[in-house]
Amino acid sequence: MNADVAVIGTGVMGSNLARNLARQPETRVAIYDLDVDRARAVAAAHPEAGFLVAETPAGLAQMLTTPRVAILMVNAGPATDAAIADIAAVFEPGDIIVDGGNSLFTDTIVRGEQLEGTGIEFVGVGISGGEVGALLGPSMMVGGSEAAWQRLRPLLTPIAARAEVAGLEAPVPCVAHIGTDGAGHFAKMVHNGIEYADMQLIAEACRILRDDLGLSPAAISAVLTEWNAGELESYLIEVTAEVLAHTDAATGLPFVDIVADAAGAKGTGAWTAKVGLDLGVPVPTIAEAVFARSLSQAGALRALGADIPGPVGNAEPLSTGDRNAAGGPTGERAAAGGDDPVAPDRLGERIETVRQALFAGKILAYVQGFDEIAAGAQAYGWDVDLGELASIWRAGCIIRARVLDRIVAAYDRQEGLGSLLADDELRAEVGQAQGALRSAVGAAIGQGIPVPALSSALAYLDGIRAPRATAAIIQAQRDFFGSHTYGRVDRPGIFHTLWSGDRSEVEL
Ligand code: 6PG
Repeated sequence: MNADVAVIGTGVMGSNLARNLARQPETRVAIYDLDVDRARAVAAAHPEAGFLVAETPAGLAQMLTTPRVAILMVNAGPATDAAIADIAAVFEPGDIIVDGGNSLFTDTIVRGEQLEGTGIEFVGVGISGGEVGALLGPSMMVGGSEAAWQRLRPLLTPIAARAEVAGLEAPVPCVAHIGTDGAGHFAKMVHNGIEYADMQLIAEACRILRDDLGLSPAAISAVLTEWNAGELESYLIEVTAEVLAHTDAATGLPFVDIVADAAGAKGTGAWTAKVGLDLGVPVPTIAEAVFARSLSQAGALRALGADIPGPVGNAEPLSTGDRNAAGGPTGERAAAGGDDPVAPDRLGERIETVRQALFAGKILAYVQGFDEIAAGAQAYGWDVDLGELASIWRAGCIIRARVLDRIVAAYDRQEGLGSLLADDELRAEVGQAQGALRSAVGAAIGQGIPVPALSSALAYLDGIRAPRATAAIIQAQRDFFGSHTYGRVDRPGIFHTLWSGDRSEVEL
């Protein structure tokens, strides 16, 4: 019996994607894993999928109808290289190897180059949505050649998430060809960078609600649930509301109070920050989100910091008490008074300030991410349709959010929109929320509540708003100690001042 497509790697992501493919009419799926028993176990656990289990790469190649398609769902890095080598050895010209892992886009470019001359097409596909997305419909960012995309399109479209869009009769499948070679993985990398920033911004908003406004985790969960009914609606807000409402079974404490305060990272956020640095694109909010995770892991440093006096917010965790009718704290915190609970009549207003601050931060994180993709497209020669990319992030992926409708609309309004901030509506929106961002960040800073992502979003905004920022002094310093030259505001040209001489200016 022949299979139409192979999935290589039967971990949770691989097996779920394989099950998703197998659900499609007339799609027979072969699975292969270096650990053959694992592949057999997956097939046995899901008889409805009718998986064919290959025991060797050669066996897999024989099972597949030609030209073949194999989707690698293995760990990024050496495991991916090894799997490509195994499959390329048994595939033939015209066959396609898809890498569906979180590979670094430059690795994808190199791997494609290495397969050039074999006639085997290599396609890097960024797949977002986690385990559930892989099973029920992920968002997929496809790289590789246009010809390969045309062949993969009928296979990937039915398994993609579908975004319901107001005004459109048919839902939009969340899969698109982003550009050639590594473009799909580049887009996925930036997706993850935005994911890091959004998660950090939400976490900081929660910290302010707790340590400045005195809300309990349960109360914050209720606030987020309300926010999720409006313009902040997103998967990440929804998830955060869920974890905040959860109680630890062993202690009876809020779950978020028993989780160690140290965040892990697999690297994609750091790649986004590094590539931003390499391309000279300012992505400070994404970078701060990465650094916030690094700082969370810096136990020795944090132990030193614990001795440094100063405010740390109203940090006493509220293990009891809930939101009162006005949304304020109840129980211990309200009775304590000394913790400066926010007067209930002002609480709603303060919560709204945090909401607007978060919304502004979120838009600015997207601005940075899309700017990085535009810069990447230019540097690597990809013709990326940023509006289409935004449109396939509206369902299936981790950063799916209502704001993406606004971003898609911005790209629709103006073809060739340079930056998202070139859109009048989004720029006005950020301008309006600016006061809230400033006030939330100001209050947090005054109380020693760390808000690196929110403050970097504000600094970024102020940086682009400032008629004159700090660069003139930097450039003058550079000219002073290194003759690095400078431009003048009053006339064109390149200039240098003879700092160690008579300080006259020369034009170069
Ligand atoms: C996705 C996620 C997924 C994964 C990240 C987590 O889009 O489905 O981004 O790729 O959750 O790799 O990354 P960290 O482990 O670095 O947080």
